Amino acid sequence: MTQTIVIVGSLNADLVVRTERFPKPGETLHGSDLAILPGGKSANQAVAAGRLGGTVRMIGAVGDDGNGALLRDSVAAAGADTTHVAVREGVATGTAVITVDGAGENTIVISAGANGTLSPDDVPADAFDDAGVLGLCLEVSIDVVLAAARAAHAAGVTVLTNLSPFGAVPAELLELTDVLLVNEHEAAELGQHGVARSIVTRGGSGCVVHDGDDEPVSIDAVRVDPVDTTGCGDAFMGSVALRLAAGDSLVDAARFAVGVGAYAATKAGAQASYPTTAELEAFLRAEDGPPGR
Ligand code: RIB
Ligand code: NA
Repeated sequence: MTQTIVIVGSLNADLVVRTERFPKPGETLHGSDLAILPGGKSANQAVAAGRLGGTVRMIGAVGDDGNGALLRDSVAAAGADTTHVAVREGVATGTAVITVDGAGENTIVISAGANGTLSPDDVPADAFDDAGVLGLCLEVSIDVVLAAARAAHAAGVTVLTNLSPFGAVPAELLELTDVLLVNEHEAAELGQHGVARSIVTRGGSGCVVHDGDDEPVSIDAVRVDPVDTTGCGDAFMGSVALRLAAGDSLVDAARFAVGVGAYAATKAGAQASYPTTAELEAFLRAEDGPPGR
C-alpha cells in the first residue's frame, strides 16, 4: 500500500541566468535572459514525488507575492496537498540566485525569505497520522527539522534526511534519521554518522546504497548529456521517498531514483525538468537499458 509522503521545508523562486562559464571573483559576464522558475529543495522533492504519482503533503512557507503564488501553483499542479504551505504577509518568498554554465553545472546562493519564518508550530499535530515517509533537508531552521523528525519518528514514519545545504548537523537529527541521503562531499564532511541506511550520490556516476549489514550496492548512472543539473539531487530524493512509501527496498528505490535524476539533468530548471511516469518510461526505453545494469 502506498502511504502519504510528507515534505517539510523550503520553497524558492529560482532566478536563473545561463553563462558559458562561471564568472571569476570580481568579474562581470553577459548571460542569458533571466528565467524565474519554481525551485527550493523541499518543494522540488514534493513535485518530483507528486508528478510520479505519489500522495504528497507539503509543509512550508512562502511570501504574499507573485513568487509565492508561482511556488504554490507548481506544487499543487504536481498533485501535492498545499494546505499547509503558509502565506506570510509582508515577507518575500525564498529565492535562489542561480548561474548555469555551458556544461549544465550550477552555482546557487539562497536567500531564505519566508522559509526562514517556518517554525515547529507550522507542522500540524496530525501531519504524520497517515504518512509513510518524511522528507527533510537543511534549507529551513534546524528547530523545524528536528521537530518534524521527532513527530514523524514517534508516529513510526520513515525519516529520510538530505543534509543539503550542508551545515552543522545535530547528533539528534542523525539519531532520528532512518535513511540518510548525502552526496560524496557531504559524506566526506560528515564522516562517521551511525545511520544504518544511507545513499551516497555521486553526481553523474550513480550512487552507493548502504542498507544495514548488507554489502553496499553500487548503482551505475544513466549517462546523459546534461543541460541543467539544478535540482537533480532533489528529483532523486523525491523519487526515493516515493518508492519507500510504496514499500520498495532501499536498493530498488535508489535504482529508480537514478533514472529520475538523469531525466531531470536533460532539461532546464528544477521542477520544470521532472518527469511524469510516462515521460520517465519513454526516456528509459530510449536509453541503452534500465539504470543500474
Ligand atoms: O537543489 C536545487 C535547489 O536548491 C534549487 O531549486 C534552489 O532553489 C535551491 O534551493
Ligand atoms: Na534540470
